Amino acid sequence: MKELTIRIPIRVFDYEELGADDRRLIDAAREATRRSYSPYSRFAVGAALRLLDGTFVSGSNQENAASPSGLCAERTTLFYANSRYPDQPVDTLAIAARNERGEFLAAPIPPCGACRQVMLETEKRYGREMRILLYGTQGIYEIQGVSGLLPLSFDASAMK
Ligand code: THU
Repeated sequence: MKELTIRIPIRVFDYEELGADDRRLIDAAREATRRSYSPYSRFAVGAALRLLDGTFVSGSNQENAASPSGLCAERTTLFYANSRYPDQPVDTLAIAARNERGEFLAAPIPPCGACRQVMLETEKRYGREMRILLYGTQGIYEIQGVSGLLPLSFDASAMK
């Protein structure tokens, strides 16, 4: 028997410690929560990303009475970015969320598994890692690539 250990480096920042570009991205993700359509969960999620050429795209979760028909903020944003700017890799993705009382979460918002898988596909598609910023009022996690969110991931290479 042998044991494998996976190490995931996460840097934790206060908002004021981030560079201007990252603060702008966090602001856009926070702002995007205002455009969430979440009458069922009352959990408003916003995502904002910067493409390699500097273009910003943001989006929010969009729910549906038939719940599986809705979509998370991250996938709404990534799918729009990938379809509108198909030649541009994602440089950094920021996520923020507010609870049913309208307060931003204190702890960094963890993206769901399906969104992590879509982030991975985006990395593979462009052959480039994306930085991820998970916003919380008590701290912002910076993760250098999707492998930090989805270790032992499945992608097309496993099928060869
Ligand atoms: N949600 C997101 O938008 N992103 C996540 O990573 C987690 C969950 C949304 C989906 C649904 O509209 C609401 O939050 C409650 O699950």
